Amino acid sequence: MPVLPIARMGNPVLRKIAQPIADPTDPAVARLAADMIATMLDAPGVGLAAPQISESRRIVVFRVPADRGEGEEVANTVLVNPVIEPLSDDKLLGWEGCLSIPGLRGLVPRYGRIRYRGFGLDGARIEREASGFHARVVQHEVDHLDGVLYLDRMDDLRLLVCTEEMHHINAALAAATDAPPRT
Ligand code: NI
Repeated sequence: MPVLPIARMGNPVLRKIAQPIADPTDPAVARLAADMIATMLDAPGVGLAAPQISESRRIVVFRVPADRGEGEEVANTVLVNPVIEPLSDDKLLGWEGCLSIPGLRGLVPRYGRIRYRGFGLDGARIEREASGFHARVVQHEVDHLDGVLYLDRMDDLRLLVCTEEMHHINAALAAATDAPPRT
């Protein structure tokens, strides 16, 4: 389970549409998932999509730590060929970072509640509803499979800041949003 180099913004692999995985139970897919989890944990981050390790395939890994999930904790999860369905029209602003865009954080609008579907490495169908941080992480990771970075989702680039300057952000604004995930 080697830790793999992470592609950074500017690498064309991050802008490609990733290819569906024909057989989620293929042992090569399990090896890819193990490498992705090792790389995510080493960074450390809370999510990683295969294009970030230069594999243009539709698989993501993520986790929701207990202190980020508003009481909800989600263990390391592998999702193959994920699909997202919004369950609310409203979008919420929350801080995001990205392992492919080091040193920056931005306030990004995301659906507050979603249903996601995909497959596990055993081939079983996974279907879950998610809200808050959990929903945000999954939306961020699945965007990577379509060549979309969080910067593309921002509607006010004045809310893009360097991580070390985040303490200047208005306290009320910070209190109203999520802690910044690194995904
Ligand atoms: Ni990312």
